[in-house]
Amino acid sequence: MPLANGFLTEHQANNEYFFELEVGACPNCHMVQLVRQPERELMFHDEYAFFSSTSKRQQEHFKKLATKIQSRYCSDEDPFVVELGSNDGIMLKNFAQKGIRHLGVEPSENVAKAAIRDGVNTISEFFDETVAQRIAEQYGLANTISAANVICHIPYLHSVLKGVKKLLKADGLFIFEDPYLGDIVQKISYDQIYDEHVFYFSVESVSNLVQMHGMEIVDVEHLDVHGGSMRYYIAHKDRHEVSQSVGRQLSHEHLLGLTHQQTYNQFRQNVEQSKVQLVTLLQALNQKGRVAAYGATSKSTTVTNYCGIGTSLIEYISDTTPIKQGKLSPGAHIPVLPYEHFSNEYPDFALLFAWNHAKEIMQKETEFLAQGGKWVIYVPSVGIVNDSL
Ligand code: SAH
Ligand code: TYD
Repeated sequence: MPLANGFLTEHQANNEYFFELEVGACPNCHMVQLVRQPERELMFHDEYAFFSSTSKRQQEHFKKLATKIQSRYCSDEDPFVVELGSNDGIMLKNFAQKGIRHLGVEPSENVAKAAIRDGVNTISEFFDETVAQRIAEQYGLANTISAANVICHIPYLHSVLKGVKKLLKADGLFIFEDPYLGDIVQKISYDQIYDEHVFYFSVESVSNLVQMHGMEIVDVEHLDVHGGSMRYYIAHKDRHEVSQSVGRQLSHEHLLGLTHQQTYNQFRQNVEQSKVQLVTLLQALNQKGRVAAYGATSKSTTVTNYCGIGTSLIEYISDTTPIKQGKLSPGAHIPVLPYEHFSNEYPDFALLFAWNHAKEIMQKETEFLAQGGKWVIYVPSVGIVNDSL
């Protein structure tokens, strides 16, 4: 596999980085994770392609989280909130605007600079135990440490947790959310599996992990963002009451069989079947009309490379992110073009790579349907949709 966000110029396409993408599960702690991951500097740097604020719905999602953190956990005199992987400041700008002490930790310099331009206090570093110690000395302890779609990116998890333990106030909360293993298995969303996502968390595996560091999960909340995510509320042991939702979700995971090998054997079969169905459908649609794709997501890199989908099946990928436009998609080398290319002359079929934003996209793309265009999806099953989801 290539890097999921490794969009390339024509020149770079001759010398592309590839690695072996493979997933394993621990029979003891039930963590599901990549066997190997590229070096972090190859993935997170000053040309990082993912800007969180491109989705309006995500802006609203993080505004809600900020409001919750402020109203529930910032009642003391001079609260301090930290966010890991704060990207372009999508969440923390809500605190910056209110003058509440905050700090973002964001190693990818280009997105960190965008946050700073918006008044968000940000340091461009990879969070770990050493960085946590330094923040604690400089700013004091944090009421909350939040992290969205980032803890699952960090292979040195024990260092991160030791850091959280040092930086969090005695009654503070570590609140993080990531794509949920239960959803990946149920929806056959194998495209969540790519270089940056080193861990595929469940309540079971996170619970085992935080216990090793004298902490516990005190609440969990299932979210419908990113195709199904779980938000974990972690506290120092015995400092908060444990919500019943934790036990409920653990029981649900046992029903799903997330700790059984058989579940993953079935998942593999489902993924292989999905691949055959998608390629067969795209081949047939190419006989009928023009096929393009919508959203040059990281996830699409897994789909195109795993299924062997290239320019013979997809003409181009439309994407609103300037840094991706005019480049080639990783591995498959499908051109990524500005949105106007799509809207000026609609294709007959659009493969929805950004399926996790389906509601938002289908609501605004009514004209595409009105002109006879059709959406092609592959999660949770391969097919053509006519109506809005
Ligand atoms: N929180 C945002 C961004 C998620 S993308 C959102 O949910 O939309 C993941 C982000 O984590 C990237 O911006 C990446 O640069 C950052 N990141 C990667 N490793 C990190 C680390 N060790 N510490 C802090 N941030 C990290
Ligand atoms: P995202 O869903 O965050 O996926 P991943 O985590 O797999 O990278 O990325 C969405 C991509 O789709 C991003 O490149 C922006 C693009 N996009 C559009 O082009 N138009 C849209 O309306 C939306 C919501 C996203």
